[in-house]
Amino acid sequence: MNTAKRIAIFASGSGSNAENIASFFKDKESAVVALMLTNNPNALVIDRAKRMGIPCTVFNRAEFFDDRVIVDLLIAQKIDLIVLAGFLWKIPENLLQHFAGKIINIHPALLPKYGGKGMYGHHVHKAVIEHGEKESGITIHYVNEKYDEGKVIFQASCLVSREETPESLAAKIQQLEHTHFPRVIADLLE
Ligand code: GRF
Repeated sequence: MNTAKRIAIFASGSGSNAENIASFFKDKESAVVALMLTNNPNALVIDRAKRMGIPCTVFNRAEFFDDRVIVDLLIAQKIDLIVLAGFLWKIPENLLQHFAGKIINIHPALLPKYGGKGMYGHHVHKAVIEHGEKESGITIHYVNEKYDEGKVIFQASCLVSREETPESLAAKIQQLEHTHFPRVIADLLE
């Protein structure tokens, strides 16, 4: 019997984390990235999924917020864990209910600082630098009905140098994400 845990990854843009997680589990028996999903028909994550031979579903607002299409797909695919990696839409109530305690997100800062609506991508790094923070980092957390407020699972930090730019900080953060996110997911699924 195949007991591999099944992961679904939601991404809205580049999908470098999605690809990194899928590569990590590629040769492991414990889990598999069964599905990628995106709200953005132009997202690079679609090409990454195709290259890796992983099905990728593109959906619109109505399918995500008004219908059960996505919930039903995730149930049919027997998904054990939903990973949000650069996914920009709020998770609707029906999805939260069906997958209670099984949805996690990565945020590119040390929550509870620099979270909430509008705090994504370079907006986060810009705010961190403008506030003169000496360190930033990543937060992996459970998803609940409020943006970026679910229980923290893991954090890792990096220094913010005097000459840091949002771009250089983004590169440091991406490095942390790629190093830690797959391993934290593996630990969670154990
Ligand atoms: C990551 O920094 C993640 O923390 C944030 O969006 C970014 C996604 O990057 N929420 P990628 O699409 O995985 O390259």
